[in-house]
Amino acid sequence: MNKIRLIGPFAQIVTMDSLPLKGPLTDDRLEIIDHAGILVNGDVIEAVGPFRELKSLTSAVEPVDEELTLIPGMVDVHTHICWAGSRAGDYAMRLSGKTYLEIAQYGGGIWSTVAKTREASLVELARLTAWRASRMLQQGTTTIEVKSGYGLDVDAERKMLKAIQNANGITPADLVPTCLAAHIKPRDFEGSAGEYLDYITSGLLPLIKAEKLTSRVDIYVDEGAFDRQDAVHYLSSAKELGFEVVVHADQFKPGGALLAVEIGARSADHLEASSDNDIRILAGSDVMAVVLPGASLGLGVNFAPARKLLDAGAALVIASDWNPGSAPMGSLLMQACILGAHERLTMTETLAALTCRAAATLGMNDRGILRAGMLADFVAFPCSDYREIIYNQGGMGAVAVWKRGKRL
Ligand code: NIG
Ligand code: FE
Repeated sequence: MNKIRLIGPFAQIVTMDSLPLKGPLTDDRLEIIDHAGILVNGDVIEAVGPFRELKSLTSAVEPVDEELTLIPGMVDVHTHICWAGSRAGDYAMRLSGKTYLEIAQYGGGIWSTVAKTREASLVELARLTAWRASRMLQQGTTTIEVKSGYGLDVDAERKMLKAIQNANGITPADLVPTCLAAHIKPRDFEGSAGEYLDYITSGLLPLIKAEKLTSRVDIYVDEGAFDRQDAVHYLSSAKELGFEVVVHADQFKPGGALLAVEIGARSADHLEASSDNDIRILAGSDVMAVVLPGASLGLGVNFAPARKLLDAGAALVIASDWNPGSAPMGSLLMQACILGAHERLTMTETLAALTCRAAATLGMNDRGILRAGMLADFVAFPCSDYREIIYNQGGMGAVAVWKRGKRL
């Protein structure tokens, strides 16, 4: 039987409760409880409130340093952490003046990671994925979306999705798999991009649905990847098969975000190249706007227009995009703080983009907020004022992480 425990006292608990899903957020909207405690029943939160009041409800207290501030475990809605090999050589080429697209044409880029990932065993891929997930967990990210997309044929994509599933059993973090078989057309596929997508649609999607390997499908719509027409056809078929769909949109060329709105995608991710009109249409829709500062930092290009997106009324979410090519850093909080400094995001907007709004992007209404009934996923930082977390720009690391009520 699960015993109810009171964890605390914390200098502050920032609950992220009662915030709207969309639009700008001023810091006075944030619910902050001083000298607070959190009552946990098994893996679920029973109550959050002043420590003194909660103390009368139980004698089981898990004490912590009072100089800690607690926020919900972060949710990273966009990563590619299942890969083998390294692209340090690509990075060196980029620093010497070559562009991301040029490097791909020279045999580097996504295709070189595909070769390494195809060679790796299922066990090795699961180990690498779990290792990266555990690093993220230590930094306070308790739920992590993970894409396939370095297999690019039926067997290798299934191997990747199985590796993500196996890694989920190794790391205490929750991994949410997404099929990105439509990352690029593989070089060894004889046929058009459209024919490749047809092959994936008939040969892979029904299989991974039946094997319950994922319920989410992503496509990279851009120059050097898939065009709009092929993407509409592919995503419509994926939806008919019962998948939820998301889009890698507007990274270099616009078009993807409008497509995401038209098709009713859950999110449009990247958005570095989105125009004011794209922003307006995205903001008027139910599609979550996911920005990936790690890809801008990795490629040395402009950030997505996060401020404009919020001001237009969009639901802004920040994710790491951790991958071997465009976003090798993998430190979500640091990237979000840097984006926030450049784009003038309020602290509340940044925190919401990493917690409650991120959880909603994955359709997970059991996390991202600290309140009764939610999963007991939370992370503590060594400060007595939550503003220190953002002010330190990610340099202040998490000192304690609880996943499903267990301190790691
Ligand atoms: O989100 N842009 C396409 N896909 C990834 C990069 C993958 C890679 O370079 O390996 C992204 O940035
Ligand atoms: Fe990505």
